[in-house]
Amino acid sequence: MRIVAIDQGTTSTRALAVEADGSCRVAHSERHEQRHPGAGLVEHDGEELVANIRRCLAAAGKADVIGIDNQGESCLAWDAQTKRPISPVIVWQDARTSDQVERLKAEGAEALTLTRAGLPLDPYFSATKLRWLLDHTEGTRDLARGGRLRLGTTDAFFLDRLTGHCATDVTTASRTSLMNLETGDWDPELCRLFGVPGECLPQIRPTVGSFGEIDGVPVAASMVDQQAALYGHGCRAAGDVKITFGTGAFALGVTGAHIVRLPERGLLPTVAWQIGRERSYAVDGGVYNAGSAVDWALRLGLAPDLAALDRFERPPAIERSLAFVPALSGLACPHWDRSAAGLWIGMGLETDARDLLQALLEGIALRTAEVIEAMGAALPIGSPVSVDGGLVRSDYFVRFLASCLGRSLVVRAFDELTAFGCAGLAAAATGRQLTVPRAGERIIEPANDGAAWRARFAEAVSRAKGWRLGASA
Ligand code: G3P
Repeated sequence: MRIVAIDQGTTSTRALAVEADGSCRVAHSERHEQRHPGAGLVEHDGEELVANIRRCLAAAGKADVIGIDNQGESCLAWDAQTKRPISPVIVWQDARTSDQVERLKAEGAEALTLTRAGLPLDPYFSATKLRWLLDHTEGTRDLARGGRLRLGTTDAFFLDRLTGHCATDVTTASRTSLMNLETGDWDPELCRLFGVPGECLPQIRPTVGSFGEIDGVPVAASMVDQQAALYGHGCRAAGDVKITFGTGAFALGVTGAHIVRLPERGLLPTVAWQIGRERSYAVDGGVYNAGSAVDWALRLGLAPDLAALDRFERPPAIERSLAFVPALSGLACPHWDRSAAGLWIGMGLETDARDLLQALLEGIALRTAEVIEAMGAALPIGSPVSVDGGLVRSDYFVRFLASCLGRSLVVRAFDELTAFGCAGLAAAATGRQLTVPRAGERIIEPANDGAAWRARFAEAVSRAKGWRLGASA
């Protein structure tokens, strides 16, 4: 049984082939264009993404079963008849609907979104983006009248185009703010609130099941990439937590059969996966800028390459009163403040580019610590916390992270845990269990409890909030 998992993420599309003996390799990967047509706007081209998926599948060769994971909240409009996009993909990072969100907040609508979808009001989630597409894309009303308009997350577009099944899964639907978290169905009141016609949305299915066939090969699993990573890390029991450092940093903790709601902590209850009738939940907390902040620092010329992040000679910047708040796209969990901006604070004439870089790296870890602290109030977090992604290659970063969390970490050496989790969920459709690759992983123990660093950082965060003109908190 050969499984091909497609990981369609924010910056790339990758194919992982898992052989019958459990060995695996990345068969192919493609990067795609990131469009920034204006401040706070981020778009992808749906045609480019689907072409990249096709290329990945072709390069991976013969498969018995396919799984596909997706970017989560990113969404678009397309024509049900031609299966062609009629809009760009509006990416999860995009903040174009901030005003609409503020209007809804002022009307007191957040009580409904929190109760039904479990989510606060924020441009991050798909609902306001889908409404924006309806209002600003030429031809949507005509297509809607003819029953041809489709509005949905990227997974539904890929599946409609590649298999003819206009379907999404319950994890992805849980990121739209249109799904009732308890029933797993589109919620008519949420659809009415956001002005998104329910008949244009894809059908919600379990994560593992039937999503049609691509060239005769069944697609047996579809899910959000973060949920795929959670499964790939081997997190199954309540309290198991992983953090993936990609474009952003996303911490998810399994809560099992229970929905854990802690709106005052700014955490998001979400679906972890649904296999058959059995649904597992998780709590999720995101930091919008992690790898994207490092890429930005490299573009600014603060460092020549990623190797420069591995070691710093001076004591932690936060101990020298130098801090960076990586709010380049605003602040997500637990603050939910799109008006916050990136901030360095504490510079003197002696501060150099290395110090700024060190503070930037520490800021990503300290923001993640805020998320894990919030999560600790929602569930007893198991030990160690499992971490993966590009940034965990920096020894300085993982040591600093362990100390600012005050927790042990297991640093995973296998780079493709997201695609591997996607493959694992596709394997579950056939009753097979994949063994999680653990070779090369290492445990990092904290050198302190991080409380003093977190307290100092909290002051910097309070100064970054509300800074952007025209964007209200
Ligand atoms: O919520 C967005 C997240 O799922 C995106 O993850 O890995 O595509 O940056 P990634």
